[in-house]
Amino acid sequence: MAAAMRRCSTKNCALLFIFLFLTGLLSFLENILPSSSSVVYDEEKSPEKLVRQSGGDGTPNKTQDVDEIRKDLPQNIVEVDVEQYLASGENFDVTECSTPIPEENYTTPKEVPLIALASYPRSGNKLTRQNLYRITGNNRRLYKQAHNLDLNETEFDRICYKTHAYDNETIKYYNGGAILLLRNPRESTISFFMWQYNERMKYDRDTVTDWIRKNDTIWTGWVQETIRSWRDTYLAWINQGHRVLISFTEDIAKDANRELSRMVAFAGQRVPIKLLKCTTSEFAWISRKHLDFEPFFPNDLLQQCISDVNNTLIRKGVRPLPTYPATYL
Ligand SMILES: *[C@@H]1O[C@H](CO)[C@@H](O)[C@H](O)[C@H]1NC(C)=O
Ligand SMILES: *[C@@H]1O[C@H](CO)[C@@H](O)[C@H](O)[C@H]1NC(C)=O
Ligand SMILES: *[C@@H]1O[C@H](CO)[C@@H](O)[C@H](O)[C@H]1NC(C)=O
Ligand SMILES: *[C@@H]1O[C@H](CO)[C@@H](O)[C@H](O)[C@H]1NC(C)=O
Ligand SMILES: *[C@@H]1O[C@H](CO)[C@@H](O)[C@H](O)[C@H]1NC(C)=O
Ligand SMILES: *[C@@H]1O[C@H](CO)[C@@H](O)[C@H](O)[C@H]1NC(C)=O
Repeated sequence: MAAAMRRCSTKNCALLFIFLFLTGLLSFLENILPSSSSVVYDEEKSPEKLVRQSGGDGTPNKTQDVDEIRKDLPQNIVEVDVEQYLASGENFDVTECSTPIPEENYTTPKEVPLIALASYPRSGNKLTRQNLYRITGNNRRLYKQAHNLDLNETEFDRICYKTHAYDNETIKYYNGGAILLLRNPRESTISFFMWQYNERMKYDRDTVTDWIRKNDTIWTGWVQETIRSWRDTYLAWINQGHRVLISFTEDIAKDANRELSRMVAFAGQRVPIKLLKCTTSEFAWISRKHLDFEPFFPNDLLQQCISDVNNTLIRKGVRPLPTYPATYL
């Protein structure tokens, strides 16, 4: 099938691409790793253990607090104020991470809403979740205890649920809203292509890279499709999400503390600032460049899709997309 796909006629291509795209999305449900990152993360450790290991000796109550959601921006996009919270951790020293945070310095969350971490594939969804699970793991346990709930390990892990879907049913299902993770589509489409053919379908890297280098139809067809899906994913969530917090992957790379604390506050939770700092100090957000040459992009379409999303944000009066470099390199 792969051979057919490489040299398919235009008619067949459409079907093949749709098929591959859907199967790709399916496997993503359990298995996305942002290309961009090297992670120090031990899946074996339970959130409680991680929390205890990374804790400092607690902070005064006042500085643990994150301001409540400050304003509901036009329609459904919300913002949270984390300035005071972050300021309370300005002089934090990572050597404090060796001492645990006392139990009484945690605040039991009042509720644990059903929230999606929605994104186009390869936007940093997994790394973001891993951080959020560690930061909020103890809160989940306290919530469970307080309400005498019989949540199993899987449910207990979640502050939010990964999704790449953007159909009306999915969006409606997440009645607590969504954290929407947006990454430059030049980065995510290339990463998605490499993941799909190299990691998932096991073509070797050089072969996959050569398809891009030689402007093969397998690449040019792919990128036309995926750029449209990138746009459609974000337009659907921005327009229809019950309650949406927007976070740019580029901002997480620059300041993980700020972006993750926005997400935690959006989920209605508060954690000791030391827990946040100790967790993020163990993660590296390094963007990986897959190519050392400029790949073909359908630039008019790409620009149109980026503008569609950007203009929708601007129309809603919220912060627009950051300025993306005009090149992949
Ligand atoms: C932890 O919280 C308690 C109040 O429950 C407070 O007295 C104590 O100072 C806090 N610990 C630290 C290290 O701030
Ligand atoms: C700090 O928080 C704890 C737990 O929520 C509470 O029992 C305690 O009274 C608070 N202390 C102050 C000084 O507000
Ligand atoms: C734990 O929760 C998940 C998600 O709701 C569910 O799919 C799974 O069957 C549950 N496992 C047990 C042992 O109850
Ligand atoms: C999804 O919802 C939007 C907005 O409510 C609506 O315009 C669109 O027709 C719906 N799509 C489907 C397939 O139901
Ligand atoms: C690559 O393929 C696309 C789509 O077929 C075409 O528009 C473009 O001109 C090609 N670019 C190069 C450098 O060959
Ligand atoms: C989005 O719009 C803002 C405001 O016009 C602009 O500064 C920014 O560069 C745009 N971002 C992209 C990716 O086009």
